[in-house]
Amino acid sequence: MTVVNIVGARPQFIKAGPVSKALRQANIDELLVHTGQHYDPIMSQRVMEDIGLREPDINLGVGSGSHAVQTGRMIEGVEGLLRGIEAAAVIVYGDTNSTIASALAATKLHIPTAHVEAGLRSRNRRMPEEINRVVTDHVSEYLFAPTQTAMDNLTAEGLEGRSVLTGDVMFDAIRAVDIDHVPTAQWATGAFYLATIHRAENTDDPDLLGAIVESMSGLNDPVHLLAHPRLASRLAEFGIGSSGSLQIHEPLAYAEMIATLQRSSGLFTDSGGLQKEAFMLRVPCVTLRTETEWPETLEGGWNIVVAPGSALGEVMQRPISENQAKPFGDGRAAVRIVEHLSLALSEL
Ligand code: UD1
Repeated sequence: MTVVNIVGARPQFIKAGPVSKALRQANIDELLVHTGQHYDPIMSQRVMEDIGLREPDINLGVGSGSHAVQTGRMIEGVEGLLRGIEAAAVIVYGDTNSTIASALAATKLHIPTAHVEAGLRSRNRRMPEEINRVVTDHVSEYLFAPTQTAMDNLTAEGLEGRSVLTGDVMFDAIRAVDIDHVPTAQWATGAFYLATIHRAENTDDPDLLGAIVESMSGLNDPVHLLAHPRLASRLAEFGIGSSGSLQIHEPLAYAEMIATLQRSSGLFTDSGGLQKEAFMLRVPCVTLRTETEWPETLEGGWNIVVAPGSALGEVMQRPISENQAKPFGDGRAAVRIVEHLSLALSEL
């Protein structure tokens, strides 16, 4: 029995790491496929090494393009690959173009698809990720929900019969980092904030991106902004650079990012994964979006959603209450996913 594990973008390497390990431990044959959506070493190889994900067996080398071009190339690539092998199932992660493309290609070949991180909803149909989530959930056979909220969303859409609450594989991943022994970024000294911005809604409008950058550059402590390639290219295009408290850097690899986040006084982000990681480490987070798919992180005030571009002076000073909540499971999500999948496949 071969299970095809498909990744393509940075957060997927992180999510697939624990699942790949659990497949190995269960003696299930895995074909690890990289679509090639992310290809820069810092977005791809270094993250994979950090998380302990082995070298992919196949890289489809799809690269960048418009949504239609990128997604279309991936569907073609994954379909070609799946036609040539006997796959028992395909596993896809999260909400990227690699996710939807792989789910569509597999399902149309009648190969059951398992969606890890199913059931997330922002209810904002202008986000490409939201379209990817909804479609992937509705075509997939096995839906692995990270949280009770995600389960409730799946139930509301009539998908509960295919859904299982497993916990979040990103919690499995963070628990595997030996955080006290990983060096932080060299600039991570004194009091500082970390920031990341990469969503198309925030990066692609020069006025909005200018306002976001300005809202961070006026803070008292340094704000270290880690520029994802999309952001780096927009900043260059719009002529925006480091100013005031704002210092722009290259992205960090996974373990260094986690250690640096833990050292920081707070995080400004539009990333879904980082909102959760901040909550897991109990670092205050400000989400620069109009909504969040992770309402669990709002508990106790650890995360707050603030309209991108609005003033940030006071917002990190808000009261936060200690809490012991563990909404992302017990660190055994990947093992549970593999157990459920192998049982379901053995009954087919
Ligand atoms: C993708 C996902 C998003 C996820 C993010 C994580 C979709 C629709 N979006 O967004 O959900 O949160 O990954 O990082 O799939 N680029 C490079 N080098 C790379 C990768 C990308 O230069 O290694 C450039 C491309 O030229 C492109 C831009 O970055 O113009 C955006 O890349 P793309 O894969 O389209 O989407 P992301 O913004 O990374």
